Amino acid sequence: MKELMQSLRDAAIRTISETADMETLEAQRVKYLGKKGELTAILRQMGSLSAEERPVMGQLANRVRAEIETALDERRELLSKKLLERKLETEAVDVTLPAKQQRLGHKHPMYNVLDQIKDIFIGMGFEIVDGPEVELADYNFTRLNIDEAHPSREWTDTFYFTPDSRILLRTQTSPMQVHAMETRPLPIRIIAPGRVYRKDEVDATHSPMFHQIEGMVVDKGVTMADLKATLNLVVEKIYGEGTVTRFRPHHFPFTEPSCELDIRCHKCGGKGCPTCKGEGWIEVLGAGMIHPKVLAGCGIDPDVYSGWAFGMGLERLAMGEYKINDLRLIFENDKRFLEQF
Ligand code: DAH
Repeated sequence: MKELMQSLRDAAIRTISETADMETLEAQRVKYLGKKGELTAILRQMGSLSAEERPVMGQLANRVRAEIETALDERRELLSKKLLERKLETEAVDVTLPAKQQRLGHKHPMYNVLDQIKDIFIGMGFEIVDGPEVELADYNFTRLNIDEAHPSREWTDTFYFTPDSRILLRTQTSPMQVHAMETRPLPIRIIAPGRVYRKDEVDATHSPMFHQIEGMVVDKGVTMADLKATLNLVVEKIYGEGTVTRFRPHHFPFTEPSCELDIRCHKCGGKGCPTCKGEGWIEVLGAGMIHPKVLAGCGIDPDVYSGWAFGMGLERLAMGEYKINDLRLIFENDKRFLEQF
């Protein structure tokens, strides 16, 4: 029996030391030390031993069990270490591999220009307001003193939703003047950027949808001098210090007097070139003193308050700033174009 136990121990320790994975190791534990295992089978024969031999064999059996358990523990530790090593090896990150490129987008060039304009006006105490693109003809035309026969009201020029020409896609941001005067306390200093729509064929300078920025100041004692000084300042911030401007008389139904603001061509200095179409000047915006009828129509007493307003095209500004020669490029969203900015 002694020999049996010793050979069991030797065989167990040898096979355990050769075991390559955890599952086989567990099977070995069951095989040697389990309830139905080999050691238990040997111990079952203890009954046939004499009273002197029994405790000696008992002690030996305990020692054999302890030795096999130690062998199992050591092997288990070794295997788990190896397992970890293999895992670290196979899952290792090769830091020398080129990284996956994260392609970050960026703001559209036109919105860069818009942000710049917003910053300039915020710096002067203006608020930025937003309003509906689907508008009532009343706001888009009538309350801006645009009479019923005005050509811009034609169905060939404007997108209408209803046969009675009551609801339309706004053709300008100027209705925001009426919205602002109706809803805001005086004095008012706002700019309102947004989309506008006209039935124009698409070409290098036209699109049925484009953007305008409306600006308006209403307060006591506001004059044309405020209009000129403010817009001159804005133009210098956009086009650079020393930019020469010209205020040219014009007509808009909602301002009186009205003007257009030109800048001297920054390309040729006024001599005339393709950029300014030989004019020497580039038109930047329309402006004027808000018509007393428009003020009164919004419940503001034109004898107490006065105001000035302007409207400018955002695309044209962006095209000038980034030297873009075709309006369509701004809307096509071709990455090869956008990535240049
Ligand atoms: N709404 C005009 C247009 O679309 C531009 C404009 C001119 C706006 C003069 C104004 C203004 O506020 O005072 O052509």
